Amino acid sequence: MKYNVLVLGSGGREHALCWKLAQSTLMGELHCIPGNAGIQGIAHIHSQPDILDFPSLEAFCVQNSIHLIVVGKELPLVHGIKDFFADTKILVFGPSKHAAMLEGSKIYTKNLLAKYNIPTASYHTFFNTDDALYHLESITKYPLVIKADGLAQGKGVDIVNNKEEAVASILDMMEHKKFQQAGEKIIVEDFLEGKELSYQVIVNHDQYFECIPTQDYKKAYDHNQGPNTGGMGNIAPAEWVTEEIQYNIHRQVVEPFMKALQTENNPYSGILFIGLMVNTNNQPTVLEMNVRFGDPESQVLLPLLESDLLALMIDIAQNKKLPESYRLDWKKNVSATCVVLTSKGYPDQYQTGYPIDGLDTLAKMDDCVCFHAGTKKIEKEILTTGGRVLNIVALGKNLQESTKKAYELIDLVSFEGKTYRNDIGE
Ligand code: AMP
Ligand code: GLY
Repeated sequence: MKYNVLVLGSGGREHALCWKLAQSTLMGELHCIPGNAGIQGIAHIHSQPDILDFPSLEAFCVQNSIHLIVVGKELPLVHGIKDFFADTKILVFGPSKHAAMLEGSKIYTKNLLAKYNIPTASYHTFFNTDDALYHLESITKYPLVIKADGLAQGKGVDIVNNKEEAVASILDMMEHKKFQQAGEKIIVEDFLEGKELSYQVIVNHDQYFECIPTQDYKKAYDHNQGPNTGGMGNIAPAEWVTEEIQYNIHRQVVEPFMKALQTENNPYSGILFIGLMVNTNNQPTVLEMNVRFGDPESQVLLPLLESDLLALMIDIAQNKKLPESYRLDWKKNVSATCVVLTSKGYPDQYQTGYPIDGLDTLAKMDDCVCFHAGTKKIEKEILTTGGRVLNIVALGKNLQESTKKAYELIDLVSFEGKTYRNDIGE
């Protein structure tokens, strides 16, 4: 049987998902809502319906004989897309609304981690401004981390360096409603030092498969300066992650967390993204959980995955137990580097609508792939439409080689205001 698949989303992650899924022998017709110019080259893209309008989405699926929905971004999952389609014949790859609280509520996740003694930064939760401000009186050490409980488009975390900044952050979130309802409840937690890691696990209830570790470059400017972004680049595998670190992550975080979900009767299926800080003693601490693949983590992970992702997603969406011997198969001795090209000014104000040149030349190069993010095809031209525009991904026999290649390839494409970090892979 062939499966018609609908991918939801429009970023580099969704282009990487479409690219990988399209390679499966099980693939029938591939659709994407809303997609981008890169996805348009391999799938049917549609601007409607809205991906949160589930009844209209169901009508779309019936009309296009969709068998499986693959959700790229968190919002449809947090809004309960899995639960909505549970009574239909259409499969959804991803967790239920209840399980998606792992990303939808940071307080829910922190409490769960604490209950099961899984390492995470010490924290306090606050439901009103006065209590949060009063708590600052007892703080003797900065920096301090202040987090909005709900979804805030990746912007809900403030690292503050003194009491004045802490007060401003709390007032912004709780009084001035900077993130609307998402900031009505907050977490104040200890600042952790170390190296950050993105660790993604493909979960099928009590079975789970750990992906190779990847490293995100979140800050806008070189040497981790400037504001946080969705991610300016990524590498896989993160070579500094030794066997000892990986063992510690498995034993101290993944294994107990999977057991905790069982004990809590909160069955999980889909991708679990664990953001970790690893300290100088090789000990991991959980920073956050997300219920979908990372972006740009997917852009380096999926080109290194040999296994048939569509076959795996279908089995998991059908709640099928996988054979005990099932393992994810990764390309051996190959590294991937992704450099994100952004519009000048991202993550703050930026201009869009500029034509992109050089994509055809780039497409002819070996051992690389260009995943689109904020792009749109208008007649014959491809224009910029977002902050993150393109993801240039190069493969090599090690990180040094893939990184060198990624930076050579960047010169082949041009658009007004093209901006990127120079130190991805360092
Ligand atoms: P989160 O959305 O919780 O992952 O936070 C966004 C970013 O803020 C993380 O990727 C880290 O760079 C930073 N961050 C979050 N929590 C902490 C912490 N406790 N200590 C240091 N940095 C943090
Ligand atoms: N790159 C981080 C994320 O997708 O959450």
